[in-house]
Amino acid sequence: MWRATVEPAWDLEAWRVQARTAWVAGIPPEALDWADEAAGLLAARPVTEAAPRREPPRIGRGILDLARHVLAHRGPGRHALLYRLLWRIAEGERRLLDFAADPDVRRARQLEKAVTRDAHKARAFVRFREIPGEANSFVAWYEPDHFVLDLVAPFFMRRFAGMRWAIVTPDRSASWDGVELSMGPGGSPADVPDQDAGEALWRRYYASVFNPARLNPQAMRAEMPLRFWKHLPEAQDLPRLMREAGARVEAMVQRAPRPARSRISAPVLPAPATEGLEGLAAAIRACRACPLWEPATQAVPGEGRADARIVVVGEQPGDEEDLTGRPFTGPAGRLFDRALAEAGVDRADCYVTNAVKHFRFEQRGRRRIHVRAGASEQRACRPWLERELSMLRPLAIVALGATAANALTGRGISLMRERGRWLAGPRGVPLIATVHPAWVLRQAADAGDEPYAGLVADLRRVADRLANAATAD
Ligand code: URA
Repeated sequence: MWRATVEPAWDLEAWRVQARTAWVAGIPPEALDWADEAAGLLAARPVTEAAPRREPPRIGRGILDLARHVLAHRGPGRHALLYRLLWRIAEGERRLLDFAADPDVRRARQLEKAVTRDAHKARAFVRFREIPGEANSFVAWYEPDHFVLDLVAPFFMRRFAGMRWAIVTPDRSASWDGVELSMGPGGSPADVPDQDAGEALWRRYYASVFNPARLNPQAMRAEMPLRFWKHLPEAQDLPRLMREAGARVEAMVQRAPRPARSRISAPVLPAPATEGLEGLAAAIRACRACPLWEPATQAVPGEGRADARIVVVGEQPGDEEDLTGRPFTGPAGRLFDRALAEAGVDRADCYVTNAVKHFRFEQRGRRRIHVRAGASEQRACRPWLERELSMLRPLAIVALGATAANALTGRGISLMRERGRWLAGPRGVPLIATVHPAWVLRQAADAGDEPYAGLVADLRRVADRLANAATAD
């Protein structure tokens, strides 16, 4: 009898090495005990001591993709099951995985399905808490049914690329420092702080959007099983909200119909927990004042020095900014950087931000297509721009595109008529509106250099103003 050991038990590479060694040595499934289920195991010899007798098996990707999920299942027997499948495929049953009725295939698919579901729940129910005293650092405690952390960590890495985070589970932890994803040992709930400001805000927001008339406890429990509630800050309020639902619906029926309101009337914005632009940025990242936060990867606060002499305001983050968490880092940002440099303005002298802090998009296949934020979303975000401006003392403000110009002047601007002229900006700061770099990128080739040259010319007026201010000093 032979013995194979997979350490850690969910690791594909570890299983693969053991399975390949056993197959090469010609050890059939019934002669191989796997450490997760074997009794009397110690009497068996490790498979690594078996003499090789043939070349490694040629198997397709299908079994490896299946194995990656099946190995993450917590139940016993999965290593042996996978080895049986591998053995049969390598011995000639090349299309085995297509036979859904085969008992081994059926069992493996069941395990795969359970793991896929559990991974989906983890993506939906992990809730981060801010680490007190550490800007932009978050940690979450989560108890999955299976070993799904390795499967879902890349999703969180993409989604929260701009923050530092850790997810701690009983078996394993994952952490992202903004550059590298590392996996480490498991932990306990004590590794996670109790509550943060964003969580209080989120609970208030959840209670305010909870619609008692649409309450369907059965569907709710199916989508959000009770055992996950302990991870969800909003779950603390759910029993009360559900208890009160009947009376609230009755009161809604009794009330006279009112004209429809815009969806977001008075946004509740979290107060920054710490002072300065960093504190403000952290509060922006926790914002849930309009629905744009949910499909977006993260909020994108402004970036730049507190003593920047120019504030540049764009429309909203694009696809790349949504992933990096930093404004104007995508194609429009690169064109803007080039135009700024050509106009003689140093980007380091600019605080760069957007009128709307979340990326609004429409998913088309694998692409996310920019959609202009609606009036209510722009309104919800306005206080953030005001807070940013209140912390800066710029000599000039640059509005890139009509959305930013309208937000900053509080009126509908005719961009093509008013661009390149000094206008009255917020807090008495002179403002210049110009075209958005994304618009320049979209211009047809036959427009030649003109759109770009126009942007540079408008930015030169800003450079001149700074130069004049320097001479006046
Ligand atoms: N467009 C904008 O308006 N802002 C960005 O940050 C990127 C593209």
